[in-house]
Amino acid sequence: METSLARIKKDIGTIQKFTSTPGQGCTRFSYSIEDKKAKNYLIDEMISLGMDVKIDGVGNLRGTYKGQCENLPIILVGSHMDTVKHGGSFDGITGVIAALEVIRVLKENNINTKHTIGLIGFAEEEGSNFGATTLGSKVITGKIASSELKNIKNFEGKSYYEVLEESGLNPENIDKERLDKKDILGMLELHIEQSIVLDKNNLSIGIVKGIAGTRTYGVEIIGESNHAGATPMNMRKDALIAASEIISHVNDIVKENGLSTTVATVGKIECHPNVSNVIAEKVGFTIDIRDLDDYAMDRVLKEVINYSNRISDKYELKCNIRQITSFKGTKTCEKINNIIEDIVKSRGYSYCKMLSGAVHDSAVMAEITDVGMIFVPSKDGKSHVPEEYTSFEDIKRGSDVLLETLLKLDKI
Ligand code: GLV
Ligand code: MN
Ligand code: MN
Repeated sequence: METSLARIKKDIGTIQKFTSTPGQGCTRFSYSIEDKKAKNYLIDEMISLGMDVKIDGVGNLRGTYKGQCENLPIILVGSHMDTVKHGGSFDGITGVIAALEVIRVLKENNINTKHTIGLIGFAEEEGSNFGATTLGSKVITGKIASSELKNIKNFEGKSYYEVLEESGLNPENIDKERLDKKDILGMLELHIEQSIVLDKNNLSIGIVKGIAGTRTYGVEIIGESNHAGATPMNMRKDALIAASEIISHVNDIVKENGLSTTVATVGKIECHPNVSNVIAEKVGFTIDIRDLDDYAMDRVLKEVINYSNRISDKYELKCNIRQITSFKGTKTCEKINNIIEDIVKSRGYSYCKMLSGAVHDSAVMAEITDVGMIFVPSKDGKSHVPEEYTSFEDIKRGSDVLLETLLKLDKI
């Protein structure tokens, strides 16, 4: 019994066309028309397998494939549907398609699992709309209350609640649609590695031991705009000068305060008024700090805050710092990892145990259930870029491991 490379290839090939930036990578934000088209394709496939399917109040795609005992907790399997801007065709969707393919194989082999299998395609994992990652999983696990949806704003100032309503969803429903820990046996997620370890070492499978935590903060430096030609150098309150000093010091802050595993990134910057002959009045940038070790992240964060305040004081500017998201480092379930390792060994696949630097919905799910994550190689370690690529042979190998893991978990 095995998954079908041809079907996986067809699914990924179909869904990668649902992009708002054809020819420039895959851009499929949650709640966009492309997202709806991708979901419609999957819904048709799921219905043809006899699954019950719904899209919940925050846009998570949720399907169930009934098991023999409806009173047993379900086994969840899936990943996220959305992408970053100009991202790749594999991040997230590979795990949703692998989950679908696993259910197809169960159906064609007339395998009736004891537990119901829940397929999940999470919405808004990437933070593409609202700047905060894993919102779809955070809402359905109760980490974000439905009342908070009105306070989360996108880059145009529109609330999450409004965006959901405008895309035809019913956010009020979400309180009734949450996942309850007693109803779930575990969650399995197959995902591309997004780093170089597997590819460089010619390994087929990564067993994820832990998922790095994140601290994402927004820093805003406020100075004063004035004429670029007429304002003497000693009379300026240039927000961009201060921001660039802070940003260029981030690498040193990590070196001095973090561990060898700590990383920090300033990936987004906005300058106002952003005009060549006007001194910048306001600069906002994000800082994304990651590690499995919470203390290391906190030390780096503390120093970023201190340094930002020191530089702002030096130029007599205002500095506001706000938290966008914060995540603890997460360990996956050892029992599930051992099951995966046994399967991988018995199949003779090369593998290693590893950490994930990228965040995943499984890290959120780990707060309510046991999770296991299977990584497949990313060519040249590239991800969140159009060049992101994983071979279909690798995806099939990962999907076969996913299938077998699910069957073993079902027997527990
Ligand atoms: C999402 O993929 C992230 O790791 O930020
Ligand atoms: Mn992802
Ligand atoms: Mn991603």
